[in-house]
Amino acid sequence: MDQPIAILDSGVGGLTVAKEMMRQLPQEQIVYFGDTARTPYGPRPAKEIVRFTQEIVDYLLQFQPKMIVIACNTATAAAWDQVRMSLDIPVVGVIQPGARAAIKTTRRNTVGVIGTEGTIRSRAYEHALRKIAPQLQIVGIACPEFVPLVEKGRFRGEEAQHVVERSLAELKSAGLDCLILGCTHYPFLADIIASVMGPDVALISSAEETAREISTILYHKGMQAKSTFAPVHRFFCSGDPLLFRAIAETWLNEPVQVTPVVWEVPNIY
Ligand code: DGL
Repeated sequence: MDQPIAILDSGVGGLTVAKEMMRQLPQEQIVYFGDTARTPYGPRPAKEIVRFTQEIVDYLLQFQPKMIVIACNTATAAAWDQVRMSLDIPVVGVIQPGARAAIKTTRRNTVGVIGTEGTIRSRAYEHALRKIAPQLQIVGIACPEFVPLVEKGRFRGEEAQHVVERSLAELKSAGLDCLILGCTHYPFLADIIASVMGPDVALISSAEETAREISTILYHKGMQAKSTFAPVHRFFCSGDPLLFRAIAETWLNEPVQVTPVVWEVPNIY
């Protein structure tokens, strides 16, 4: 099936899922939408996130994707059910795969979750984790400073180190052996997060786990791309295309063409 896979996020975070897909599924074409004009989604009310997600899905449907990936935990928590009920193609969210990986990884049944305010408030990880493993001790905290840092491209260096140290201070004494990066922007900060949490805490990236889930769905449904040519990926963003391109090229380590999309009613938080 040579239709593309559509990926959406509030900004550059979904590129962490895209990168994993390019690694695990190099023959699949990606059409990516980052809603950088309206990022961050984390502090917004769930109703608004549902509307934004639906708008992006409607936009992406023009490319006739064979699958939609909501590569944003906040949007998955708020809108996954609604979007998947409304479409007859698979709609993959990022919360279930990360939750399942954490359950496999934890040895002491102590799992931490970091995410946006929206994701933590929704308790979506807690529900997903407890459904399979009710015995788990779960500690969830919001890290509202991480997404703006990544969206500005400042995910390396001293400032990022300070923000991560400050944000994770209370988690360090929680006795965790496993920490879910419950926001697709956070793998940009994974090295710093790992150094702050120390070697005894395994990090679970919802991005990596989601790419694995996508691969499984494509295989079981016989939907893998048939073409042997390297796919040409397409990137769209609603904010500054130059900033998006700079971050995308640094992260993906390859040249990226970005098409700006202007929402008729931009909604800057
Ligand atoms: N990447 C989004 C997530 O996984 C970030 C949400 C935001 O824009 O605050 O939740």
